[in-house]
Amino acid sequence: MSQHDLPTVEIDGKQRYVEPAEATDVEAFRAVVRSRRSVRKFTDRPIPPDVLDDCLDLAMLAPNSSGLQMWEFYVVRSPEKKAALVKACMSQLAARTAAELIVCVSRTDRIREHAQQTLREWPMPTMNPLVRRYYQLIPWHYSPGPFDVAARVKRVVYSAVGLVRPMPRGPFSSADLDLWAAKSTALACENLVLAFRAHGFDTCMMEGFDEARVRKLLDLPDAALPIMVVGAGERAADGVFWPQLRFDRDQFVHEV
Ligand SMILES: Cc1cc2nc3c(=O)[nH]c(=O)nc-3n(C[C@H](O)[C@H](O)[C@H](O)COP(=O)(O)O)c2cc1C
Repeated sequence: MSQHDLPTVEIDGKQRYVEPAEATDVEAFRAVVRSRRSVRKFTDRPIPPDVLDDCLDLAMLAPNSSGLQMWEFYVVRSPEKKAALVKACMSQLAARTAAELIVCVSRTDRIREHAQQTLREWPMPTMNPLVRRYYQLIPWHYSPGPFDVAARVKRVVYSAVGLVRPMPRGPFSSADLDLWAAKSTALACENLVLAFRAHGFDTCMMEGFDEARVRKLLDLPDAALPIMVVGAGERAADGVFWPQLRFDRDQFVHEV
């Protein structure tokens, strides 16, 4: 569909874009969510390339902060690199037996580039001036400056203004930005593992890896942060080691 034949309806005298909510099947969703387990042992059945592609595409439909898509997915195919990655994952069984190993990485060094790309590829014929301004300011807003100096200044100023009105309290520093990008990347990881489950395959998210070695293996710059390695494949009969443990919901759900 071109930008010019977007579905619109007139609301309050203005043509508004409309995207009706599709019908969904909660039981199908429940089956995917409930049957997802961290699988530590896979069979040697390969994952068909179209399934892998579909899962990656579904991963990238995850919500992400300001729509900036600060993630990357490295599907490690070369046997040498894969062997090195397994080692970097402490030779965990899940990594050793996985048909595919995908390193999910966040890239805070792409903020400017992706803000500009958003301005270029905006999916409407016109862009609201406030939205345009927002994306124009993003590189400034998310820049910690050399040695986080700008971040420190911003923190002081925003905190001072925050005494009298609600203000964003970050992300300012490089560490804030890493956390900020990690949140969205982790959401994509969750989409990824649920997508594999929906296709009948299984996964293990792994943060038990040597970050320095993974960085070196993928030739990642300092601003790239490997968030997790997702091992995927067909669940072996003894691939789940124990029943799922969740504490009582009252411990976690609070009505305030
Ligand atoms: C961020 C993250 C990192 C994890 N890292 C590892 C890991 O390195 N090795 C591993 O075997 N499992 C890892 N897990 C899996 C957890 O141990 C698992 O999700 C948890 O025990 C709950 O089990 P379930 O996933 O089957 O519900 C990780 C999970 C998450 C979310």
